[in-house]
Amino acid sequence: MKFADTWSHPPRDLTLSRDEVHVWCTFLQQSKTQIHRLEQTLSVEEQIRMKRFYFQKDRGHFIVARGVLRDILGRYLHRQPGELNFCYNSYGKPALTPESGGKILSFNVSHSAGIALYAITCGRSVGIDVEQVRPEFARDGIAERFFSAEEIKALRALPEDQKKDAFFNCWTRKEAFIKATGQGVSFGLENFSVSLTPHEPAALLSIKGESQEDPCWSLKKLPVLPGYKAALAVEGHGWQLKKWQWQLSEHTHEDAGTNIEFDK
Ligand SMILES: CC(C)(COP(=O)(O)OP(=O)(O)OC[C@H]1O[C@@H](n2cnc3c(N)ncnc32)[C@H](O)[C@@H]1OP(=O)(O)O)[C@@H](O)C(=O)NCCC(=O)NCCS
Repeated sequence: MKFADTWSHPPRDLTLSRDEVHVWCTFLQQSKTQIHRLEQTLSVEEQIRMKRFYFQKDRGHFIVARGVLRDILGRYLHRQPGELNFCYNSYGKPALTPESGGKILSFNVSHSAGIALYAITCGRSVGIDVEQVRPEFARDGIAERFFSAEEIKALRALPEDQKKDAFFNCWTRKEAFIKATGQGVSFGLENFSVSLTPHEPAALLSIKGESQEDPCWSLKKLPVLPGYKAALAVEGHGWQLKKWQWQLSEHTHEDAGTNIEFDK
C-alpha cells in the first residue's frame, strides 16, 4: 500500500507559518534498523510504556508512532528528537513542555491499523483522527450510543449505500474535534453535532443545541488510504493545509534548515 501522491515528501527548507497546518503520515511498520534508531530517541517513561506491550509488533508500532512524532517536532524546532519533553493535560492530551517548544508548536496524533497521522500547527489548537473502516461498526447500534440526536437523524435519512461512509465521516470528525479541545470524550459526544453526509463539507454544526454559523473551529476531511477515514479539527479559519509523508532524515535536526515563521 502507498499513500497518494497528494502526500508529498517535505523539502529540506520546510517552513510552518501561523496560517498553515501541516499533516504528516507514516506507516507504523518500519525496518528493524529504523525501529532501532527511533527507539534511541524515546524517554525512559516511553520505554517503560513500550515494554508493557506484550507483542513485538505492538512494541514496534508504539516506538515508531512516538519516535516519528519526536523526529517531526525536532525538525521544526532544530532540536534533537531525544531532547524533547512532553507534558499532558488532565485528559491525557500530550503537548511539548514550554522549555521544549510548547509555546511555539501544537500537535496531535492519531493511529489506526498500521498508520499514524500527525497534525502540527504554530499555536492553533488541533485534533486529528484516523480510523480503519470496519463496516460492522456502522451497523451495531454504535451511532445510537455515541452520536447526537441530530447526527442520528441525518444518518437514518440516508440511503443504505451511503450510511457506512457517513458513519465514519461522523466518527472521525467528532473524534478530531474532541481531541482538538483537549477534553477527549469528557466533552460529551452527544453535546455537539458535525456534518456527515458524503457530499457535504466537513463542519461543526452545533454545540449544546447552539448553531455554529461562525464557529471557532474548522473541520476538514483528509483522504489517506483506501479503507481508512480521517479528519482534522483546527482552531479558527483561513489556514492552509500541507500534507507530508514522513521518512527518516539522514541529517541532524540542528542543520536541517526547517523554519517556523513566528510573526506573519
Ligand atoms: C484517547 C482519545 C483522545 C482518542 O482515542 P483513539 O481514537 O482511540 O486513539 P487515536 O489513535 O486517535 O489517538 C490517540 C492519541 O491521541 C492523543 N491523546 C490522548 N489523549 C488525548 C486527549 N484528551 N485529547 C487529544 N489527544 C489525546 C495521544 O497522542 C494518543 O496517542 P498515544 O497514546 O500514542 O500517545 C479519546 O477520544 C478516546 O478515548 N476516544 C474513545 C473512542 C470513542 O468512544 N469514540 C467515539 C467517537 S464518536
